[in-house]
Amino acid sequence: MVKKAVIPAAGYGTRNLPITKVLPKEMFPIAGRPAIDYIVREAVEAGIEEILIIISRSKNMIMDYFDCSLELEMFLNQAQKSHLIPLLELPNVHIQFIRQVYAKGLGDAIRLAERFVGDEPFAVLLPDQFFINETANALQKTIAAYNQYKETIIGVKAVKQEDLKLYGVIKGTELTEGLYHITDIIEKPQTAPPSNLAVIGRYVFTPEIFSFLNETLPGIGNEIQLTDAIKKMLTNYAAKAQVLEMDCFDLGKDEEYMTLLNYMFKK
Ligand code: G1P
Repeated sequence: MVKKAVIPAAGYGTRNLPITKVLPKEMFPIAGRPAIDYIVREAVEAGIEEILIIISRSKNMIMDYFDCSLELEMFLNQAQKSHLIPLLELPNVHIQFIRQVYAKGLGDAIRLAERFVGDEPFAVLLPDQFFINETANALQKTIAAYNQYKETIIGVKAVKQEDLKLYGVIKGTELTEGLYHITDIIEKPQTAPPSNLAVIGRYVFTPEIFSFLNETLPGIGNEIQLTDAIKKMLTNYAAKAQVLEMDCFDLGKDEEYMTLLNYMFKK
């Protein structure tokens, strides 16, 4: 059973400067709620009971959001606005926070979860990848594949050839429709991507990933890359890729964020 999830939210959000100087990307509003609220709810809906959010010094706003606001509740009661109190209800899940002190990359951030995870399989959700959850839950689908194979599962999606250099890209053999045995994985291939299947921000790992993360050196962008640790892991452990076909929006891309807002507004 996958009961724990890690949400890395420590990045600088450089693609969205200057707003990310003061507003973390994870707090970008989507129909009145911050993006990370939806990500946490996706995890809870998929059966997650404990979440570790990895933040940085400038991201305390995320901690504040997942705290109770007794003062505000008192005010709403006194001001005869108690009908608004249900809006403040937090997702029913235990959340912890840890700070990544140096921005050394996604792999380094996940490494900080080792004690939290212990000896269990765990999920990772990248909060800038927003899945529309109406027909299926992206993490739930990833966990379902884990439950079937008991191996590391990487959520992937077919993306346009010219965009593959922005993602981790897998190479694999298809076992059943949408489910691949991974033979290789490359972070941001600048030439000759091994397929059109990009890593899309939902993972389930077995705890063995930590020993590989601990020996991973900085890779592309001089950052410790999660993808590089996965590649090392493949020499000893099998891993699978699950195609996630639902609509996915990258909050780091203005046009996708706008499309998402439009979609949520029309709902
Ligand atoms: C990260 C991962 C990459 C993945 C991407 C999905 O890259 O390293 O493998 O494809 O997220 O959004 P980033 O976008 O943080 O550079």
